[in-house]
Amino acid sequence: MRDLCRQEQGSPEAGVNVANRRALGVIGAVAIWAAALAIPPYWDTFGEHYKPPAGSALFKASCMTCHTTMAGGQHHNAYGKDIKAAMRTRQLPEVTIELLSNLESKDSDHDGFTNIEEIQGGFLPGASTSHPAPKEGQPRVEKAPKANEVSQLIPPHSFHPLAVHFPIALFIFGAFLEFLGKWRRNGDLRRFAIWNLGFGALASLIAVPTGIAAWLRVGFSLEGNLLIHFILASAATVLMLAVAAWRRKGELDSPFYWISLAATTSIVAAAGHFGALMVYG
Ligand code: HEC
Repeated sequence: MRDLCRQEQGSPEAGVNVANRRALGVIGAVAIWAAALAIPPYWDTFGEHYKPPAGSALFKASCMTCHTTMAGGQHHNAYGKDIKAAMRTRQLPEVTIELLSNLESKDSDHDGFTNIEEIQGGFLPGASTSHPAPKEGQPRVEKAPKANEVSQLIPPHSFHPLAVHFPIALFIFGAFLEFLGKWRRNGDLRRFAIWNLGFGALASLIAVPTGIAAWLRVGFSLEGNLLIHFILASAATVLMLAVAAWRRKGELDSPFYWISLAATTSIVAAAGHFGALMVYG
């Protein structure tokens, strides 16, 4: 009898557990389905049309035929960018075979082979390092060597990621000490602030040329986040130098000084933010 009671008590609980597990299962399945729906089926469109030979670089590349990462998303390589641009100009909601065909005679990655030559050979139309062997008797158009082939000593980033931390950290810390010194009425803090503001401003004179060198070496076009970063960083440099030079003349307390300091600090931080976006996406 006891056993029976236990069973009777146990069964509704067990029922709840099963129901919970089922609910979780359904939620999981819906999540996977939703995630799958969020990925446009362009690899299928591409693959069914061109049938990349199994084992070829193109076959293995799958999503990276058009994207720079396997997750896809908004990061496109040269070929993906051309597809996206064509979608925008022609206002197509998705990638069509006709659209792909229109890009066949183009050489998206500028490696001397048209997209269709590369696709048929099983190579990547969006990566200049992947292409068929140069045709015999038809020497490849010699292109100017890439910047990073010219010198092994200076990496493509030109030490910009190293240099940028000094103006950002020093200047922002200097501004923080200024505010703290004023708030606490502590002249020592404010004198210490001058050094941070000054060296932060001077360090930007190293950060900016390394940035321009990195930009020329990597060869990104000056648009989007890079353009915003360039404008903000240039403005930040001029403002930092002006504020630091002004501050050297003595302790400043006019509202205009504090507004200039706050604005300059914000622009330094914003320049750093848009720089980081390019690296970390
Ligand atoms: C033939 C080229 C091509 C292939 C292959 C391709 N994609 Fe894309 N993908 C695109 C283009 C172009 C867009 C941008 C569409 C747009 O902006 O309307 C895109 C957009 C996306 C998006 C963003 C969707 C959105 O709404 O923002 C994701 C996620 C994505 N792709 C994932 C993938 C994955 C994962 C694969 C591999 C299974 C893949 N893609 C293969 C061309 C491709």
